[in-house]
Amino acid sequence: MKTKAAVLWGLGEKWEVEEVELDDPKAGEVMVQLTASGLCHSDEHLVTGDIPIPFPVVGGHEGAGRVVQVGPGVEDVAVGDPVVLSFLPACGRCTYCAKGLSNLCDLGGSIILGPQIDGTYRFHARGEDVGQMCVLGTFSEFTVVPVASTVKIDEGFPLDKAALVGCGVTTGVGSATRSAELRAGDTAVVLGVGGIGINAVQGARIAGCRYVVAIDPVPFKREQALQFGATHAFASVDDAWPVVSEITRGQLADACIITTGVAEGDQVMPALSLVGKRGRVIVTAIGHPEEQTISGSLFELTLYEKSIKGALFGSSNAQHDIPRLLELYNLGQLKLDELITKEYALEDINQGYEDMRQGRNLRGLIRF
Ligand SMILES: NC(=O)c1ccc[n+]([C@@H]2O[C@H](COP(=O)([O-])OP(=O)(O)OC[C@H]3O[C@@H](n4cnc5c(N)ncnc54)[C@H](O)[C@@H]3O)[C@@H](O)[C@H]2O)c1
Ligand SMILES: [Zn+2]
Ligand SMILES: [Zn+2]
Repeated sequence: MKTKAAVLWGLGEKWEVEEVELDDPKAGEVMVQLTASGLCHSDEHLVTGDIPIPFPVVGGHEGAGRVVQVGPGVEDVAVGDPVVLSFLPACGRCTYCAKGLSNLCDLGGSIILGPQIDGTYRFHARGEDVGQMCVLGTFSEFTVVPVASTVKIDEGFPLDKAALVGCGVTTGVGSATRSAELRAGDTAVVLGVGGIGINAVQGARIAGCRYVVAIDPVPFKREQALQFGATHAFASVDDAWPVVSEITRGQLADACIITTGVAEGDQVMPALSLVGKRGRVIVTAIGHPEEQTISGSLFELTLYEKSIKGALFGSSNAQHDIPRLLELYNLGQLKLDELITKEYALEDINQGYEDMRQGRNLRGLIRF
């Protein structure tokens, strides 16, 4: 069939919205009609090369919609089911899934290769095979994805809000609650208040932190952080440090979560300076694969037992955590509506990313 999708044809280019050919689902796959897709910074990394992926590719990895067709052997979901698409597929059978670490599932190795898990392509355009970001490609009215990437949700839940839980919400909340292991009474710092960082802020609040300190150079982001549960907001680490020290009586923060647009090695030293004994620096932002040097005091790392830890999908398990986060929204304990600063038609995707670069959006959302 034909569908309309945003395709990236090369490094540094604009998204091209065009009609593409979409195949039927193969074994273990489903076709989904998307309701909405979030504009996450990770798709911007495809444009800049911070995430290397073969071109051409249909972008987008933060979506929700309804199943419209199922491939052979699919039993978990049926036509008509509402689903959130998780940016990490989980097989449920590999050693990591079996350990409850489905964010590290062996299938994750396929997410930036281009084709589907079986190595063949579902999208085709201009006589070429077209890959899918995270084996999803949610910048498309219809897509074909592995059933391992779908999480069936309750009928009636608003699918536009649910889309954000496929990446940003779960990554941010999980970075605070799971990766950073924040607890009631702790002090958290979130460095960078975009679509991910704002959810780390609300994750820290949900965890019961006594202080949640947000740092972002953009005034709008600082205002929003205070709305989402931050107790303090600063433009820079230098501005934040004396206050973090004062409010914690010199003990400093329990964790600093790095959620800047692009992770840089020299962000680690200031983050380490904000955490105290047993303090954790959580690196959720993604840096260029060739960025291989990080800064910081080894002396303090040892003597204060500080740690630096990467976090993928906020160390979350999609099948377990996505339905629970939606339930928190139903109970009024998690904000989703307020995350969406602006909605766009698919044709306006380049404007959506320009707004992200300019710091105008917590999250931009494409509504189909
Ligand atoms: N680890 C994962 O599983 C995972 C999942 C999704 C996204 N990500 C990554 O998380 C990062 C954030 O994504 P996003 O969608 O929230 O991006 P975004 O562009 O919406 O937000 C980034 C924010 O960081 C701020 N910022 C930039 N430099 C800063 C600095 N030096 N100090 C303080 N703030 C700074 C910007 O003003 C902006 O508000 C990206 O690198 C993205 O690829 C990681
Ligand atoms: Zn994302
Ligand atoms: Zn697995």
